[in-house]
Amino acid sequence: MSISLNDKIPNNVDLSSNRKLQKALLAWQPNFIDWWMDMGPEGFQQDQIYLRTAVSVEKGGWAHFEYVKMPEYRWGIFLSPHQKNRTIPFGDNIGTPVWDKVPGDLRKELRRIIVTQGDTEPASVEQQRLLGRCAPSLYDLRNLFQVNVEEGRHLWAMVYLLHQYFGRDGREEAEDMLARRSGDADSPRILDAFNKPIDDWLSFFCFTMFTDRDGKYQLGALAESGFDPLARSTQFMLTEEAHHLFVGERGLQRVVRRTAQLMNEVPSGDVVKVGGIPLPIIQKYINEWYSASLDLFGGEDSSNAASYFASGLKGRFKESSSRKWTDHVALEGVYEHHVPNSTGGLTTEEIPMRRAMNLVLRDSYTADCERALSRWNRELENAGLTERLYLPSDRFNRDMGVFSGFGYTPQGEYMDWEAFQAKKSQWLPTDDDRNYVQSCMVPVYEVGKMASWIAPPKKGINSQALDFEYVKFH
Ligand SMILES: [Fe+2]
Ligand SMILES: [Fe+2]
Repeated sequence: MSISLNDKIPNNVDLSSNRKLQKALLAWQPNFIDWWMDMGPEGFQQDQIYLRTAVSVEKGGWAHFEYVKMPEYRWGIFLSPHQKNRTIPFGDNIGTPVWDKVPGDLRKELRRIIVTQGDTEPASVEQQRLLGRCAPSLYDLRNLFQVNVEEGRHLWAMVYLLHQYFGRDGREEAEDMLARRSGDADSPRILDAFNKPIDDWLSFFCFTMFTDRDGKYQLGALAESGFDPLARSTQFMLTEEAHHLFVGERGLQRVVRRTAQLMNEVPSGDVVKVGGIPLPIIQKYINEWYSASLDLFGGEDSSNAASYFASGLKGRFKESSSRKWTDHVALEGVYEHHVPNSTGGLTTEEIPMRRAMNLVLRDSYTADCERALSRWNRELENAGLTERLYLPSDRFNRDMGVFSGFGYTPQGEYMDWEAFQAKKSQWLPTDDDRNYVQSCMVPVYEVGKMASWIAPPKKGINSQALDFEYVKFH
């Protein structure tokens, strides 16, 4: 099915043949735009941004670049191509045909999965709303807006599923998506990391590196779901998501590269003197966002995760394509993990495989984060420095799972709660750290120029030069 870009709602789901659904989504559309104008990037809605838009869902040829005013972005519904005769690749229903409709007994679970995923999309736009004011370059400003419009599109992807498959409940959920607000005391977003403020670009890069990457693993686990419309929606979302992760990983890499360069240039090595961001502050931001993102995976031993796997709703990352998974039923075997005991030590426990699916997914995520860390450390190594960045222990600063409420250093050593509280400022950003980072956030809107705390990227977007005019101000 090709994309009908000229429809009021661009789509490849043959929306015009389903009048009722089309009408419902056309009624939701102005509310979405109102939300966007209210909670989307502040101060840039009239400017021309060099953005990519989906024009095809086929591999290789899906993106088209042009100048667009954000409120005129072609948000729509794009599903990856239908695979004929697809069967459920894991769980109790393995080998049986996938569902084109919601199975009655899984309705509640599916709705919860879709609403939880959907809620994160507008949340991140809200969190990043003011960042345009202090962008380090036009290149970065454009990337921020690309991420923002695509998170808006991901909301469309989930809202389509709610409207199409969940009747009245689904329509109500879709309304609620536009009513909750990130960080709001009365009506917050569902997950904690999506209520945290993102006031500076170091936080933004950490968010797109660590928190969006949780999204990659959640979407990856849903991309082979037995509920075929969900699988096809998340597959296409993943292709967009790759750019968000690139923005975060390479953004942090550029900050590290610049800091390393300044450390070598300043005789004392004190980069604050020349407007750089010191490595210890970068480390604290990593500590904060990595630990908050681990919480998003949920409890280590989870009956929900087991039932999602059993019923074929949510698998592991690359359930059928990774060689890591040979047994797709997962009724045998255990997954080992550590739990704190009463004396402050650790006990090894075994979780039956299906109940450990959150942890299995989280471990795939951690390996991916480690890969990025070694890339950043190569920057330090290449600059001849001995300092290194690291991921904190999974016990550090947790609000979810078995280590929540315990004090651990980033190296994973136990300490009593009071001692931990007293030392926390060594490991997590303090007000002074945040204020310093904030002081570096001066906007640079001149074509081809870059703020002093970050190195330029190696390449531009869509093969454009670095001094390309990625944003044209009105
Ligand atoms: Fe997203
Ligand atoms: Fe994203």
